[in-house]
Amino acid sequence: MTAFRPPLPLRVKTPAAWAETALADPAALLSDHAHCEKKAALTALQLSQAFADAPRASVLLARLAEEELNHYRRVLEALQAFGWTLQPDGGNAYAKALHQQAAKGLLDRLLIAALIEARSCERLWLLERAGTDHPELGSAPWLAFLLELERCEAGHALGYRSLAEERFGAEAGTRLDWWLDREAEVILTLPWRSAIH
Ligand SMILES: [Fe+2]
Ligand SMILES: [Fe+2]
Repeated sequence: MTAFRPPLPLRVKTPAAWAETALADPAALLSDHAHCEKKAALTALQLSQAFADAPRASVLLARLAEEELNHYRRVLEALQAFGWTLQPDGGNAYAKALHQQAAKGLLDRLLIAALIEARSCERLWLLERAGTDHPELGSAPWLAFLLELERCEAGHALGYRSLAEERFGAEAGTRLDWWLDREAEVILTLPWRSAIH
């Protein structure tokens, strides 16, 4: 297995065995991921309101929202292709726990978004690796889709970090360092389930 290099220096590595738990109920996993993509699009749009005066950032966030919306549609289409229905949104305990760590200033919102993208990217990579052992999911187009999502979310993690650095300078790096520890604490407390987080 080639080594994975996360877009941000995450301090806890998800064990490869996580993917087997996630893939135990692929319909639930895919449903959860559809909701994640939808929320990612909404996050990008909400954050764009803080960058209305910054043309480059506005375009970056509009493109990011567009990509997440594209992912959302394609995950819904994948559910349909597998013959599964979208299950109700069970919420995202990971994102919720991160947001509970700090007041919701712009810097923290950008860094939380960057961390969620980075962790998603790591786990999509693990799913893509494990997918070949699951004949029902291991088709080439499906694995190619996971790989595309992984690369895209890596770009989003870097995009959010760059927005934080542009707006907040050195403070962004110091705060990211603090957040990397919080993210590590949060991810270790959460039980594994058929969901990306
Ligand atoms: Fe996405
Ligand atoms: Fe993303």
